[in-house]
Amino acid sequence: MGEMKAYLEQHRERHLEDLKALLRIPSVSTDPAHGGDVRAAAGWLKERFAAMGFDVAIHETARHPIVYAEHMGAGPQAPTVLVYGHYDVQPPDPLELWVTGPFEPTVRDGRLHARGATDDKGQMIAHVLAAEAHLALNGKLPLNLKFLVEGEEEIGSPNLAPYVEARREALAADAVVISDTSMFAPGMPAIVYGLRGLAYFEVEVQGPGHDLHSGLFGGAVANPINTLCSLIASLKDEAGRVRVEGFYDDVRALTEQERAAWAALPFDEEKFRDSCGAPKMVGEEGFTTLERSWGRPTLDCNGILGGFVGQGAKTVLPSKAMAKFSCRLVPDQGSEDIGAKIKAHFEAHAPEGVKVEVRELHGGNPVIVNAEGVAVGAARAALAEAFGSDAVLIRSGGSIPVVSDFSAILGIPVVLMGFGLPDDRLHSPNEKIDLDCFFGGIVASARFMELFAATRG
Ligand code: BES
Ligand code: MN
Ligand code: MN
Repeated sequence: MGEMKAYLEQHRERHLEDLKALLRIPSVSTDPAHGGDVRAAAGWLKERFAAMGFDVAIHETARHPIVYAEHMGAGPQAPTVLVYGHYDVQPPDPLELWVTGPFEPTVRDGRLHARGATDDKGQMIAHVLAAEAHLALNGKLPLNLKFLVEGEEEIGSPNLAPYVEARREALAADAVVISDTSMFAPGMPAIVYGLRGLAYFEVEVQGPGHDLHSGLFGGAVANPINTLCSLIASLKDEAGRVRVEGFYDDVRALTEQERAAWAALPFDEEKFRDSCGAPKMVGEEGFTTLERSWGRPTLDCNGILGGFVGQGAKTVLPSKAMAKFSCRLVPDQGSEDIGAKIKAHFEAHAPEGVKVEVRELHGGNPVIVNAEGVAVGAARAALAEAFGSDAVLIRSGGSIPVVSDFSAILGIPVVLMGFGLPDDRLHSPNEKIDLDCFFGGIVASARFMELFAATRG
């Protein structure tokens, strides 16, 4: 380990340059204008893996390619780890709020700022650099490694489940390792054992066939914006509970043990509030902030569109209004079941005089993974060595839909060992990764490979 740590220390500058090179490629998966950039990022990774002696291939999907690379040189008696990550990123807007350009990676105060710095290019490549370090130092890896790096995570991984299903045997491994989550706090690493699921919708309310004069017609036809707002208001009550019939039917209650463990974490509510920039933390009655965001389901409007919003006033009765909204789900809710319940709610509440259409955009199931296995044990030990502090077991409010697919299709343990921090501003302007986290992540990954290999006596 000493030799490895020294090697990694020496190569910090080059590792940072490597990450910067990948961050300069604007691989925004949702934007068709960036299709070529997404492909360029996949090509960059392919070259990177090939240079390390991995067998690597670009696997086409209906949209963005998957980069698959493997190095099986450790032989059949050694364990195999499948590392999953994503090289696509969220759109960078609003651009004017970035201190330096989203695709011009820049270090300020020990943090590397760029879109994708933490989500997920920086975290994913930590494993690539760790593997490279083993190869450079020892000419071999401690275990067999397979990398599956996709370009569609930020659009809901629409083509990944069928891919995993079709390549079930090729992807066989003893554990899946994913670094696409956060530590609990600086210097306090974490294993995430639960993620929320997602059910995302778009609703359109159509009133009159075209915009109308609000004086000549107002009061006599339904206004789609008013209707949409009533519909949105009908979704939640004052106590922060979702009013969709049956929404809580399958929610697994938090155990007393879990609640006590979370309450014992050194969570700084005031710092968290400050990092949100919100005047007060607000949510479902009867639950703490951590419980609300890790262990309870939610429903939030994500965007709304309609009518006249230009300068001054326009007396118009708009013909339609649209909103996007989504639910974060917890075990054992299912995204399809919740989708059906939401649709039924809108059908039951749609007033006369308008047409209401609800479209499901994407979904993913919530997961709880086993935190007791050997792979998690090795990850905890590796994190502790790399960051100098024991890893805590936490849940997270975010979603990685493929995790439930990996468990269901491959039937192997999933280890969520993230190197991010809660204030990384993922999906926001000025996203960053702390250099301590990035370099610590490489150490943790390298050590994990050794420790997990050693479990196979
Ligand atoms: N890496 C995040 C999810 C995440 C971040 C989980 C931090 C836990 C801690 C991932 O890239 C992401 O953004 N997922 C999306 C879901 C997807 C279907 C668009 C999300 O959670 O909104
Ligand atoms: Mn991610
Ligand atoms: Mn993301």
